[in-house]
Amino acid sequence: MSVGAQIKALSFSLLFLILDYLKNLRKKFFAHFINSFMDGYNQLNDELKKKHFESLGNVQSKSEPLRGANKFSLVEVGVGSGANFKYLPSNCVMTVVDPNPHFQKLFEENKKKFPEIEVSKFIVAAGEDMHEIPDNSVDVVVVTLVLCSVQSQAAFLSEVKRILVPGGKFYFWEHIGDTQGTLMQRTQVVGDYIWPYIFDGCRIARNSTEEIERSGFSGCNSTKFYVRAPDTAYFFQRWILNYFIGSHVRGVATK
Ligand SMILES: C[S@@+](CC[C@H](N)C(=O)[O-])C[C@H]1O[C@@H](n2cnc3c(N)ncnc32)[C@H](O)[C@@H]1O
Repeated sequence: MSVGAQIKALSFSLLFLILDYLKNLRKKFFAHFINSFMDGYNQLNDELKKKHFESLGNVQSKSEPLRGANKFSLVEVGVGSGANFKYLPSNCVMTVVDPNPHFQKLFEENKKKFPEIEVSKFIVAAGEDMHEIPDNSVDVVVVTLVLCSVQSQAAFLSEVKRILVPGGKFYFWEHIGDTQGTLMQRTQVVGDYIWPYIFDGCRIARNSTEEIERSGFSGCNSTKFYVRAPDTAYFFQRWILNYFIGSHVRGVATK
């Protein structure tokens, strides 16, 4: 190899190393950002989130040993730093999935505040491929603010259906693209060009409701709603919620 070719190869390797390092840094930043953002977000939505997850208290496991112990299995996909612990009943046995390894330490730190909840495993993987979890094995799957970020919503939802037991429940709470023609929808369309680069792949103009509805669940109840930050909220929270990701959907689908 000539000296010129060697310098070129070295420069490319260095460039890839730097890009990889920056990508990793962005993921680390995102994990810490979400960990602190979710505190304020949960405060704004506390009552509604309690209501959304209330019916988890009535879940009867399809697994005999779990049912005998008055427990049920729950997989939270895209768990992040564990912002939903406070809304989950203490008798669920959790498996959690997230592709960003920087969340794991933050998740384990938050978990210490909820010793009554059992977490069997933190799987570092994308929801589009949860092969470590067997077919028809899980009573409940939970996602909050995740479908905006996945590579393929169809593949993700197909995996959710695969792991759920027949009759199992899929609880979702997502920010979505707003109704066509509103000011928020227009800012979302423009913002969507840069948002994924800042917020680790998050897309703000997606219509996740339609994708869930056409993904083959036997039933689906969903409600569209808005999350708005009051004038007293700090600037960044108001800016994000009131202009970009305020439009939401929550619901429960049944396999
Ligand atoms: C906005 S955060 C929400 C975190 C958490 N669910 C919450 O409500 O605080 C989006 C989460 O989705 C995760 N995520 C991104 N792509 C994913 C994928 N393909 N499969 C599963 N989770 C994914 C991210 O790593 C991140 O934890």
